[in-house]
Amino acid sequence: MTKSKQERDGATRIGELVDELNEHCYRYYVLSQPAISDAEYDARFRELQLLEAQHPGLVRPDSPTQRVGAKPLEGFATVQHRMPMLSLDNAMNEEELAEFDQQVRRLLAKDGALPGEIEYTVEFKFDGVAISLIYQDGMLAQGATRGDGTTGEDVTANVRTIKAIPLKLRAASPPQGVLEVRGEVLFRKREFEALNEERQSRGEETFANPRNAASGSLRQLDPQETAKRPLWFFSYGVGVVESATKGISGLGRRPLDQAMRAVESLGFSISPGYRVVKGAAQLVEAYREAEAQRDSLPFEVDGIVIKVNDVDLQERLGFRQRSPRWAIAAKFKPVEAVTSLEDILIQVGRTGALTPVAVLKPVRVGGVMVSRATLHNQDEIERKGLLIGDTVVVRRQGDVIPAVVAAITASRSGRERRFVFPSKCPECSTPVQREEGEAVARCPNGHCPAKLHNRLVHFAARDAMDIEGLGDKMVGLLLEHSLVKDLPDLYSLKVEALQELPRMGELSSRNLVESIQGSKERPLDRFVFALGIRHVGSKTGQVLARHCQTVERFLQLSEEELLLIPEIGPETARSVAEFLGESYSQSLVQSLLAHGVAPAPVIVDASRDGALAGQSFVLTGTLSGMSRKEAEEMILDRGGKVSSSVSKKTSYVVAGESPGSKLDAAKKLGVPVLSEDEFSALLR
Ligand code: IVH
Repeated sequence: MTKSKQERDGATRIGELVDELNEHCYRYYVLSQPAISDAEYDARFRELQLLEAQHPGLVRPDSPTQRVGAKPLEGFATVQHRMPMLSLDNAMNEEELAEFDQQVRRLLAKDGALPGEIEYTVEFKFDGVAISLIYQDGMLAQGATRGDGTTGEDVTANVRTIKAIPLKLRAASPPQGVLEVRGEVLFRKREFEALNEERQSRGEETFANPRNAASGSLRQLDPQETAKRPLWFFSYGVGVVESATKGISGLGRRPLDQAMRAVESLGFSISPGYRVVKGAAQLVEAYREAEAQRDSLPFEVDGIVIKVNDVDLQERLGFRQRSPRWAIAAKFKPVEAVTSLEDILIQVGRTGALTPVAVLKPVRVGGVMVSRATLHNQDEIERKGLLIGDTVVVRRQGDVIPAVVAAITASRSGRERRFVFPSKCPECSTPVQREEGEAVARCPNGHCPAKLHNRLVHFAARDAMDIEGLGDKMVGLLLEHSLVKDLPDLYSLKVEALQELPRMGELSSRNLVESIQGSKERPLDRFVFALGIRHVGSKTGQVLARHCQTVERFLQLSEEELLLIPEIGPETARSVAEFLGESYSQSLVQSLLAHGVAPAPVIVDASRDGALAGQSFVLTGTLSGMSRKEAEEMILDRGGKVSSSVSKKTSYVVAGESPGSKLDAAKKLGVPVLSEDEFSALLR
């Protein structure tokens, strides 16, 4: 059968458009040199869509229309990395960086191969999410997260939506076989701020930093959602390079920088300023220069990564447990900025705790605008000697909420004033209480509106009852219009009543009612956590739910019984017993049950349960393959215990990246230290 002329013309035009649009995409997202306007791009895109609709058989897999296509996923499949995705050791300052060069030279000398000065590649350490991309015969076949380094999650459908990732490698004859490109998916600072502003205006939770935003976006089950997020990609290396690929693309070429140039030529961005330096002095100079550039970059970086350029020397140097001896991450100092402390406000939390919050003149700290910072409590303000009107140093690093470090007393004019901690709750005027030996002042009024507000927000939060659309703003609206007087009222909310609220349409009202009703059967651990009992975080919620299995049993817990649960300390036991002893709490839970809330029992996986029974863990540093919470959950799941300080009784300290003083404590006390990989192996 011969193809009709129309079919032939269609095929030619489709081919032209795909190539042309992909080229523009590359120019925009990788080269940052757009050649046509957005409107022109859109017009060609629509022409392509139309032609593809007329000739469905001619749709090319690398067509830009095929970036978002897949339906929402049920979950992510796991992916076994053919080559493990390693982590890096850290150097925290210039001395440690110079020491790295010394060590490389020492090791090579021992091996009888000391060359002159060593060549190193220098690139930024991106603060995003590590991704492996598998290209099969030049076409993107799989995208996976790093996971624990050995096993990651298959996020192919989401990765395909990232425009800086080519669906097809740029090469006249695409390399055959498997080529694995590795790198980091990230959010740019400006787009991160815009995303958070938008989320805030919708009453949704904001992301703590661009890294969390990137990670959250990549782990959306619906690729349409990921596609809405402006994600970028930078490559920092290759993984599997099958021999057929080596010849064609020059990837097998040594040294390392040449392979990275080959990756660049295949259509990827690599680190801006990527270069090769020689010897310790140049390394230190490159580190200083990079740090000076940090704020002017469009994305966040937390240091530079140094790698021995000569691949033969890399092979001689080899690996430690989970990181190569031929590479190191040289971290930058935490970012600080100077601004003025305009006021101090008091926030009343769900447990009634009064927290002073610094109102700052908005300032950019490491690329992110900061206008509030917690001051923790009264003692903290006094310890730092802060006065309203002071010029202060503000610091932000990683996830940490911005902190006021100190006042610059030399800049005082004499007009600064002392902050007087209120003796009455700013929301309900009830005299506050501060218990002996406690740093926190509290409002004791059970009906304090601020407490109710925050209890509602906490109840609906993602790790609690997970009620989408019920954030801070929405709760404010509900209270203001007296639609809700306590938690159970949420479950009687009607679409008709919600529709009357400002800016609430029928659809959003319906969605909210649906997500509230949908939360009724959340597992017991979330329900217990959602109640907002003092000292009961989500971890304790799990311990209690596992112990009780049913709400009825939970309601009957006594302080004595609580004290017998190994993971529950005396303070928590007292707090839970106090809560359960109040008739208000009992009737609150009963009322929730009467409204149809039916917490599901927590299923204890018998095959896993108990594997870590009797063992206690302390976590320190940042884990790269899982969040702190996930790690804790996995330990608890297996019957282990997690505690926050190291003692002789601690079974293991798990040390992630940039471990803190807990690692020193472990070494001093002789407690075994596990790397993240060793920890993952233990869990398996
Ligand atoms: S190289 C064998 N280069 O840092 C070395 N990693 O701590 C493997 N990262 O999981 C990594 N920027 O997600 C390398 N320029 C860079 C990087 C980089 C960020 C991340 C990466 C890795 C983690 C290791």
